[in-house]
Amino acid sequence: MKVTPYSENCGAVVSELQLATLDDNQLAELRAVFAEYGLLFFRDQDLPPQEHLRFAQRFGTIVVNKFFKTSEESPLIAEVRKEKDQQTNIGGGWHTDHSYDEIPALGSILVARTLPTSGGNTQFANLAAAYDAMPDDLKKRIEGLRAIHSNKHLYGENGLYRLTDLASQLGGMDRVGDATHPVVIRHPESGRKVLYVNPGHTIQFEDWDFAESRKLLDELYMHVAQPQFTCSFNWLPGSVTFWDNRCTWHQADNDYQGQMRLMHRITLQGSELAAA
Ligand code: OGA
Ligand code: MN
Repeated sequence: MKVTPYSENCGAVVSELQLATLDDNQLAELRAVFAEYGLLFFRDQDLPPQEHLRFAQRFGTIVVNKFFKTSEESPLIAEVRKEKDQQTNIGGGWHTDHSYDEIPALGSILVARTLPTSGGNTQFANLAAAYDAMPDDLKKRIEGLRAIHSNKHLYGENGLYRLTDLASQLGGMDRVGDATHPVVIRHPESGRKVLYVNPGHTIQFEDWDFAESRKLLDELYMHVAQPQFTCSFNWLPGSVTFWDNRCTWHQADNDYQGQMRLMHRITLQGSELAAA
């Protein structure tokens, strides 16, 4: 397999490899590359739903999203669907998947199924690189903090998504919940320090005033969203992206109104996150 960095700090393209047919040695190599980059892009894959499942199960343990519709092919595959006449998309703001769970997701494997003729990119950010580049005084200010992550404001009663035309696709209103995690985690595989807060799910710092929390969170978010830590991936038929939810953010561009976009997502279970 060939590994080519995608941009300065954001992702790598893995080529000369088919995810459906990799052997055990290639899988081991891929694990190491995944730990190093936290964000992998693949082109020209032949990965029908059963092969998507098989690759995911070889890599880890599947965890099912509590709110998304699942695909016809399998209850383990979540649909990230936007209909032609739908205005709101899933994941349109910076977030990382499942940070509201006590045991957050390791990663998500997203496969393109139906794409708009143009647009519909996914943007990513590297939270390990962003942490490393933070000014020392900012690192000091977040040392030892914990943050509360939730999904109630999105998927609960009157949650943001419930008030949009996405609502009819969503289930799980009674499955909302919170979790707290360290703000700086030690990545379980790479050993790197990572900033673990995200605009989609992080509510506030534990034992802090809400308004004070917002101020510091916004400062952190402004730092991460800079071009040197982010990249944009243009999907083509056969594209697959595999990101590590412990050290990346992502968001989906919503710039293809009037066209349909359908992706299949499988999410892998992670482990409890430890402070760095
Ligand atoms: C997701 C998600 C982004 C996209 O699948 O978790 O946020 O580009 N998707 O569809
Ligand atoms: Mn997502």
